[in-house]
Order: sequence, then C-alpha cells, then structure tokens
Amino acid sequence: MNQWDTERIRSYIVRLDEQMEGGMPKGHVVLISGNPGTYKSSLAYNILYHNAVNNDMKGLYVSFQQSRESLQDQFNSLGMPHEDVDDKITIVDVGYLRQTMKTRPQDWIDVFKRYVDNIRATTHYDMLVVDSLTTLEIISNVENKRESLFQLFEWLRSFRGLTSFMIIERPTKEDVMKEEEFLADGIIYLSKERLGHMETRRFLTIDKMRATKHNTSYFALLFDGGRFQVTRVISE
Ligand SMILES: Nc1ncnc2c1ncn2[C@@H]1O[C@H](COP(=O)(O)OP(=O)(O)O)[C@@H](O)[C@H]1O
Ligand SMILES: [Mg+2]
Repeated sequence: MNQWDTERIRSYIVRLDEQMEGGMPKGHVVLISGNPGTYKSSLAYNILYHNAVNNDMKGLYVSFQQSRESLQDQFNSLGMPHEDVDDKITIVDVGYLRQTMKTRPQDWIDVFKRYVDNIRATTHYDMLVVDSLTTLEIISNVENKRESLFQLFEWLRSFRGLTSFMIIERPTKEDVMKEEEFLADGIIYLSKERLGHMETRRFLTIDKMRATKHNTSYFALLFDGGRFQVTRVISE
C-alpha cells in the first residue's frame, strides 16, 4: 500500500497527487478536459496503467473514436505497453463496433450502459475511461443533454468503488462552462500554448475536485524520463 489514503486514486503524475490530498476520491466522476493533443487519452491511460501495476487495480478503457491499435501505439511510445497489464486493463474499441453494426442504434448512451453492465457481470473494474464523452454525446443525439448526463453520471456513481474518467474535447478555456462541468465531481483541465515557432508548452490545472482541498494553479505538464510530471510555472 502507498503512503496516501486508500480511498483515493492516484494520478501517478509526478508531484500532482500531493496537490489534491493524495489523489482523486474513489467513486468520483472526473472529467479530463482539453483541446486536441493535450495528452487527454495518454493521461487517462497513465492513471489506469500505474494503478494496475502498483495497486493491482482493474481498468476498462472505452474508445469511441480512436482505434485500439492507434491507442496502443501511443501508449507504447510513452513507455506504457498494454502487454504489461493486459490481464488488468481492457481496451474496447466501440468505433469498430459502430462501423460494423448494420443498424445504427439511436441511443449510444444506452448501448454503452448495456455494454458496461455485461462486462462488469464477469469482471469487477475499479476504473473506467470514456474516450470521449464528447463523441458519445454527439453520436447519441440526446434531446435533453443535462438530464441524460445527470442520469449517466448517477449511474456511474451507483457502482460501488468505480472511479470514472470522462474525456472532454474542449477548444478553449474561455468557453462557457458546459453541463458536464457542473455535473462532474472533478475536472482536470489540460491546455497548450505555442511559444514562437519552436516550442509548445503544456499545462495542467485541477479545476474542480469535490471533497478535496486542492491547488488551483496552472502547472507546466511534461513527459520526461518516461513519466508525466507537473512543475510550478515560473513567470518570466
Ligand atoms: N513518445 C512521446 N513522448 C512524448 N510525447 C509524445 C510521444 N508520442 C506522442 N506524443 C505526444 O502525444 C500527443 C497525443 O497525445 P494524446 O493523449 O493522444 O492527446 P489527446 O488525447 O489530448 O488528443 C501527440 O500530439 C504528441 O505531441
Ligand atoms: Mg485522445
């Protein structure tokens, strides 16, 4: 066991967990929000991978847009090969299912729920990633978004001990707060900024984390020495 409260899920991003009382409360629905290429998928998998390796926890990663192969290539390139944890982490490619299904179901949220119910009947998962909730919403064509999301989040919370990470594609920080953000228990916000022609800097903020005293600063996010890490931003 680690030094932190066992009722929290560590992010395994170096220096981040101590900024939120050791991690994210178990059972929370946490959004991982940001624009393209801000490491949303990679960080979600980072949580699953390191908790599988260190804490023997099981994770289910449901992808609605990127193929299983393409995701695995990305995770391999970041030094987190799926072979290491294939007995603990399941990656499901629903995009493939979407292409092969003859009739397109109207309510993908329903299909998703039934799928998770079936899979949970045989394996108890501790962590779930939905990549992305934005795609799930679009293909589901829901009429009342706030109500559907409320029901979906409540359904996820009803599984004892399941912590959910929902990926959100969000173009800019200045966007109006979305329904998801009011309903979620936590928000990890990722962004990037171009510096001249040569460099892109990446940032991470803990925007919201219920039941947690957390830091709200912007941290620089780096992938260095095979690990994701945050450092304080030093203003120039
Ligand atoms: N080996 C690597 N080391 C560091 N960064 C990498 C590596 N391979 C890919 N990347 C970065 O990862 C980014 C994609 O990460 P990803 O998690 O798929 O982002 P998102 O899900 O937010 O779109 C790429 O744009 C690239 O900058
Ligand atoms: Mg992604």
